[in-house]
Amino acid sequence: MIREIITYPNKILKQKSRDVTQFDATLHTLLDDMYETMMAKNGIGLAAIQIAEPLNALIINLPDEEDKQRKENLVEVINPKILEMDGTTVYTEGCLSVPEYYEDVQRAERIKVSFCDRHGNEKIYEYDGLMAIAFQHECDHLKGELFIEKLSYLKRKKFEKEWKKKLKGKK
Ligand code: CO
Repeated sequence: MIREIITYPNKILKQKSRDVTQFDATLHTLLDDMYETMMAKNGIGLAAIQIAEPLNALIINLPDEEDKQRKENLVEVINPKILEMDGTTVYTEGCLSVPEYYEDVQRAERIKVSFCDRHGNEKIYEYDGLMAIAFQHECDHLKGELFIEKLSYLKRKKFEKEWKKKLKGKK
């Protein structure tokens, strides 16, 4: 089922998510809903809190070399931990909760992570490139943080001004 994505400045996005304890049908339905919702909005990542579920669950589905998002490349991440970070990289990020806004954000270039799959099996991976960036972006959502909080003071001020204007225009 496609769910509603909540957008900035909805306070739910500031909530800290909690660990998943039951790897059951309810979790599987949530993950399936997250996938449908993300694909409907052409996103490459989504955290559960973005559909108002404060659980440590996120999904990432990067496009392949042909720029196609294939379901077999979908990564479901439950209760993630970033174990190691290394290097720095800058990438122009966007977020389905801050639609149509893109800005450069600095993050670690490489990360080592642990997380569970939908059945509760723990995995450890090392990521770089866009996967490392997306993983860090989505993990921030679980802490109640958005990428706009990483902007410089001036860029953030400019964003707030533009965003207010945009919200006004929609009313
Ligand atoms: Co986001």
